[in-house]
Amino acid sequence: MEAMVASQPVIKIAAICGSLRKASFNRGLIRSAIELTKESVKGMEIEYIDISPLPMLNTDLEVDGTYPPVVEAFRQKILQADSYLFACPEYNYSVTGPLKNAIDWASRPPNVWADKAAAIVSAAGGSGGARAQYHLRQIGVYLDLHFVNKPEYFLNAFQPPAKFDSDGNLIDEESKEKLKAVLLALRAFTLRLQGIC
Ligand SMILES: Cc1cc2nc3c(=O)[nH]c(=O)nc-3n(C[C@H](O)[C@H](O)[C@H](O)COP(=O)(O)O)c2cc1C
Repeated sequence: MEAMVASQPVIKIAAICGSLRKASFNRGLIRSAIELTKESVKGMEIEYIDISPLPMLNTDLEVDGTYPPVVEAFRQKILQADSYLFACPEYNYSVTGPLKNAIDWASRPPNVWADKAAAIVSAAGGSGGARAQYHLRQIGVYLDLHFVNKPEYFLNAFQPPAKFDSDGNLIDEESKEKLKAVLLALRAFTLRLQGIC
């Protein structure tokens, strides 16, 4: 944390998207969250962390406790963040392979996720990603992540009216308002966990 907003610190949030697709709706949620922090939601900075360069986890790539440079750079970003925003698509009722891969790399010793707050948002089909989110929460138990419980954010991306444009940008105002509530809850919980308020 660096700057202060009305005597409270500005928290650093690392945002991770489980989809590698260019026009990913979930990535669109992160872009929208970043826009919100530049407009109406103050007291936080969100950095999008690209997980696409990470190799598939293979512990043979670890040499004397060190990691490939791209993995080490990712781990540093995770370590330096105050909390996390997961944009969590649902593949076959669970988290996506790319997201699990990124989570696993940052869990290698020392586990750099530990004792941090996190929030989850999803855009998916029918349940809006609920099943994937609950799997992610279960994974978080072992990582020692602390998830914001409410509000939950499940967005059915395919139900009319359109929620996203063809580039994956969130265009639905109601969904933006709900996203704002998630960000405010994440900020409050992060500060509480850090003993700041
Ligand atoms: C391999 C695969 C499995 C999927 N399984 C589910 C699923 O279990 N539940 C669901 O709601 N959507 C499922 N979908 C649809 C995704 O929710 C949809 O493609 C969504 O747009 C993915 O997120 P993205 O736009 O961020 O890439 C699946 C898509 C793929 C490619």
